Amino acid sequence: MEIFKEPFGKLSDGAEVSRWVLINEKGLAAKILDYGATIQSLIVPDKNGNPVDVVLGHDTIEEYVAGDCYLGATIGRVGNRIGEGKFELNGEKYELFVNNGPNHLHGGKKGFDSFIWEAEREGDFVVFKRISPDGEEGYPGNLEVSVKMGWKENSFTIEYEAKTDKDTVINLTNHSYFNLNGAGSGDIHSHTLEINAEKYTVCDENCLPTGELASVSGTAMDFRTPKLIGKDIENDEPCVKLSRGYDSTFVISGHPFAKATGDLSGITLVADTDQPGVQLYTANFLTDSRGKGGLECGLRSAFCLETQHFPDSIHHPEWPSVILRKGEIFKSFTSYTFV
Ligand code: GLA
Repeated sequence: MEIFKEPFGKLSDGAEVSRWVLINEKGLAAKILDYGATIQSLIVPDKNGNPVDVVLGHDTIEEYVAGDCYLGATIGRVGNRIGEGKFELNGEKYELFVNNGPNHLHGGKKGFDSFIWEAEREGDFVVFKRISPDGEEGYPGNLEVSVKMGWKENSFTIEYEAKTDKDTVINLTNHSYFNLNGAGSGDIHSHTLEINAEKYTVCDENCLPTGELASVSGTAMDFRTPKLIGKDIENDEPCVKLSRGYDSTFVISGHPFAKATGDLSGITLVADTDQPGVQLYTANFLTDSRGKGGLECGLRSAFCLETQHFPDSIHHPEWPSVILRKGEIFKSFTSYTFV
């Protein structure tokens, strides 16, 4: 495994940003910024053996800072939505920043995606670490978090670990935007996608779960057998229509939980995790559209498989819990395997 670090520009306050490059024996490469522990590139061979960069990203740190679409970033402390940005824990009320309609999204005003993380090599991997202080973005507890990323053969793996000195909430994910035909190669309507999920979280007009877990059967949300992403994307199904495409959490019911193939490249992505859900987002609101190499990445030019707990779980005690207690160790993994 070849691993090296190189400069990737500076923030406006002069802080230096680095990029880690990991290339395995088969030539599969990953480029990861310490800014946001952000996956900038994943380069894998297509059906003819030619290298293809399958994730959206930018060439400069300025574009990452200016962007608001979380391209490739690590999301926390709580990814996805918290209704009205409020919650109660151990009888204490907490108020968070509201940045998505009436709700809190992806950790708030300055989430984990907007910090420079400490990083070091650990064997074949790079580990990104930060301490999110007590009260950051309104969340309780000093949270020590690490994200270990790298290749295991043709699997790009992400392992999260966290501990807190006070009970808190946590829902970490990675926000990579995949286009298996290559970033900047057009929309993903002709990709095939299969998701091992019998149910999805029904949402209101602000994409906040109502609490109902509905069957995918007979709906646009049914990906139990391989289907073109574009097939039902204009469907009248409220979840799809309101979001101008897919932006819903699926309840994972088997493993690996998803498989997608780029029609032109023949690249197949097999995704797995130990998390209970996955948000399928088809880049319906992509605004930072100038991609690497100046290639335009417009609406629906990628899809995200954000592995996570169900959104707003803190208000749904019947769902898997996002509470991390003092003294407990939070651990989770996600893998993206290219075949
Ligand atoms: C997630 C959300 C979307 C959107 C994107 C980022 O996928 O569910 O609604 O906020 O992140 O733009």
